[in-house]
Amino acid sequence: MMKFHVLTLFPEMIKQGLSPSIIGKAAEKNIIAINPVNIRDYTQERHGKVDDTPYGGGAGMLIQAQPVYDAHRAVSGGRKLRTVYVTPQGRPFDQSLAKELAKEEELILLCGHYEGIDERVLEEVVTDYVSIGDYVLTGGELAAMVIIDAVARLIPGVLGNETSAQEESFHNDLLEYPQYSRPEVWKGKSVPKVLLSGNHREINKWRLEQSRERTERVRPDLYERYEARQQLIKRLSKDKRNNIHIMECLARGHGEILYAKGEDIAVYNRDSSTCMLKAASPESGRMLLKYCPDETRWHVVSQAFMKTLLLEQGCQEFCECRQFLYTQREPLPVQHKDIRRLGLESLEYICAHYDMETPEYIRDRLLAGVIYGAFVDQHLVGFIGMHDEGSLGLLYVEKPYRGRGIATSLEAYTVNRMLERGWIPYGHVIVGNETSVRLQEKLGFYQAKDTFWWIEKQ
Ligand code: ADE
Repeated sequence: MMKFHVLTLFPEMIKQGLSPSIIGKAAEKNIIAINPVNIRDYTQERHGKVDDTPYGGGAGMLIQAQPVYDAHRAVSGGRKLRTVYVTPQGRPFDQSLAKELAKEEELILLCGHYEGIDERVLEEVVTDYVSIGDYVLTGGELAAMVIIDAVARLIPGVLGNETSAQEESFHNDLLEYPQYSRPEVWKGKSVPKVLLSGNHREINKWRLEQSRERTERVRPDLYERYEARQQLIKRLSKDKRNNIHIMECLARGHGEILYAKGEDIAVYNRDSSTCMLKAASPESGRMLLKYCPDETRWHVVSQAFMKTLLLEQGCQEFCECRQFLYTQREPLPVQHKDIRRLGLESLEYICAHYDMETPEYIRDRLLAGVIYGAFVDQHLVGFIGMHDEGSLGLLYVEKPYRGRGIATSLEAYTVNRMLERGWIPYGHVIVGNETSVRLQEKLGFYQAKDTFWWIEKQ
């Protein structure tokens, strides 16, 4: 359960602002918790005074350091919790910051009023300064609510279905396409024909075109980023088998281009803190490494000299893999009928049978709704999933149930889920796992020539 503590002089505003909404419902269901804390309750001055005039003069009043500090201490209990001060002087709030904040288990939002807050307490407790836009509000409460709303809706369970949080605006630097519902004709305006056709490929094509047109017109800044990605995808597609991991990361809207000139390419996947690198030479490879963000946890490389460079820098080889991709568009037949999306109740089972990944990681994947299980007589006997950087993996079937096509069905099922989203399924198979190689080939996957290394940053 993610907790939002809001330090404010107007706790009622937070309570009343959020409780009737979807966010309020999620709080009722204990998926999230909203804890408005009145800064005034912590003042040591008489009559609940929390403000005073600024030194050096100037208009208005400032909130004093002491009550803010004590309110913060009361909530954090001395723990180092991420603390966001909402202020027009902050970093602009956007979807990627929302995603980043959604990873926290607890968040403190500090709302200013009057002319602001004594700088010394900000230095003491604040980790992030965030603005919701280039305009000035009378207080931080509305900004805090905006942030809570945008962060909370990314938490699994807050919105009804799994895909809704993933697919809409800003996901790929493109704005949402127009949508229509009944009636088919309203005020003489018909719903675009293609949407009634039932042809999903045509519908997706139309929606993409609408999104592009709208973005180019309304938000040229976003469109420029989108175009840069499309250009790079196009260049990479000349060697699709070896580049699919980078292409898909970009196409699915998770890839940030750190560097892309000629043969030197660095793309960062923020969701998985993974840098994917390709260099023209060891010299330029060294240069590319400088572009990797400090938070990088993984590097994926397919050139031996890049691996050497990383190991020289103290990184550790995690695994050596082959890359497989499925380039057909048609869904695969799924023989085994009882395959279901797994939830947290399966965490223990998966951890007990899969030791390549940590329990925290498995938990994260379950919460993301991307692990599927095969059941026989209502018993879970195997599973598969999508990794946080986008590849297929986490495949396991219990020994007594092997040789019955369950793994094949699990993988075919997941391939179909990926195709539905317009993705090209791909995966990494650890060198030496011949059973898996045969499975990929049987399903119609192609193997890339290069060897891939996952290198962990220490
Ligand atoms: N407080 C006042 N104005 C604000 C803004 N634009 N963003 C965040 N907090 C604020």
